[in-house]
Amino acid sequence: MDKQQQLTAIYDFTASKLGNDQTGHDMAHIKRVVKMAKQLNQDNLGDPFIIEAAALLHDVIDEKLFTDITAAKASVKDFLTQIAVPAKTQTAIFDIISNMSFAHSLENRPTLSLEGQIVQDADWLDAIGAIGIARAIYYGAKHHEKLYDPAILPRENLTKEQYRNLADETIINHFYEKLFKIKDLLNTAAAKEIATQRQALMRSFVTAVKEEWV
Ligand code: ADP
Ligand code: NI
Repeated sequence: MDKQQQLTAIYDFTASKLGNDQTGHDMAHIKRVVKMAKQLNQDNLGDPFIIEAAALLHDVIDEKLFTDITAAKASVKDFLTQIAVPAKTQTAIFDIISNMSFAHSLENRPTLSLEGQIVQDADWLDAIGAIGIARAIYYGAKHHEKLYDPAILPRENLTKEQYRNLADETIINHFYEKLFKIKDLLNTAAAKEIATQRQALMRSFVTAVKEEWV
């Protein structure tokens, strides 16, 4: 199996795991993250195989989607071994996908490899802008969040646990608690530039919701 065939196999593996996800972690999200990660690595400073493999696999060990993370990781590892991805490459991929989530970054932000920084930027960029707005509404509705409640103020300095506690969370507050912060948390200059426009779109959206509110 050459590297391209390995990547095709990894794509199919992810599709089989995320197939019917309806929380915004579907294959369209995965494809956007792969595409954006490649774009952010245009100068080829990062290893293209590690970047694409990590982008494809970044959500298959997500604690929101899979209850048994140890089993999810073991299944990825078995699969990568089966398609003959070298142990060293597997370690590089796991270092990225185990540490790149926003939730992981709230308390002690892990240090990521260059490849990890690129994949993290690509994933976080997909949480902002037009698609980001849509995903927040989709995710919030799925978790029975209200769109907006002026009486509930956004929370400050969230711990990982608080971030995952959706009682009293509103979709608009998610913009203050996470989405507006992303621009300054991105790793690469290229991603920050893309984030600037997306930030402006989100600001207009939130302002308009408040203006049109009852
Ligand atoms: P990460 O995996 O990087 O920690 P999440 O999986 O929490 O990020 O987020 C996945 C998508 O769901 C993102 O678009 C995010 O903005 C959205 N999302 C996460 N939590 C909420 C929430 N409480 N309300 C609305 N959208 C949310
Ligand atoms: Ni993702």
